[in-house]
Amino acid sequence: MAILDIITPENPILRQPAEPVSRDQLKTLQPLIDDMIETMRAANGVGLAAPQVGRSLRLAVVETLPQYDDDGDEIPDSRDLFVIVNPEIVWQSRKEEDGIEGCLSIPGYVGEVSRHYAVRVQTQNRYGKKQRLKFNGWTARIFQHEIDHLNGILFTDKLTAPENYWTEEEYYKDDEEESAERVVSAD
Ligand code: CO
Repeated sequence: MAILDIITPENPILRQPAEPVSRDQLKTLQPLIDDMIETMRAANGVGLAAPQVGRSLRLAVVETLPQYDDDGDEIPDSRDLFVIVNPEIVWQSRKEEDGIEGCLSIPGYVGEVSRHYAVRVQTQNRYGKKQRLKFNGWTARIFQHEIDHLNGILFTDKLTAPENYWTEEEYYKDDEEESAERVVSAD
């Protein structure tokens, strides 16, 4: 396995709609999938789409945020890992929620984005098996962010307002006085 380079918006691949993955092609992509999982974890991300590592393919990996017990300790094995191939959002809730997002391709910045509170995703897993998944809250947000990557869309395209975009330093400085409730997902 290997840690891959993550590209930034200067690279046009990040802005291209990615290509569907065929069943035969998927067999050859298993090492890439493992490398993407390793790269996401090494970067402390919760998601990584193939275009972010320079491959214009409809493929992404997602790892959900951990759950914590009453003492604030991380519950072991409480994170779920998903490999999604040719994913599509087939339903989205009317309800939306604002949240703070980051992106491994835009290091050092965060912004406020409105996302559907819940989504249903039709996808294939890494072995080509069809799945229908339903998510809400932060997990739904991560999936929407990753599927946007497959369409050349970045979170900075969807800010609730242009000024709702900060360096991490600015955001955390202001945020200390506000609330520790908000979570930043770097994907
Ligand atoms: Co991203």
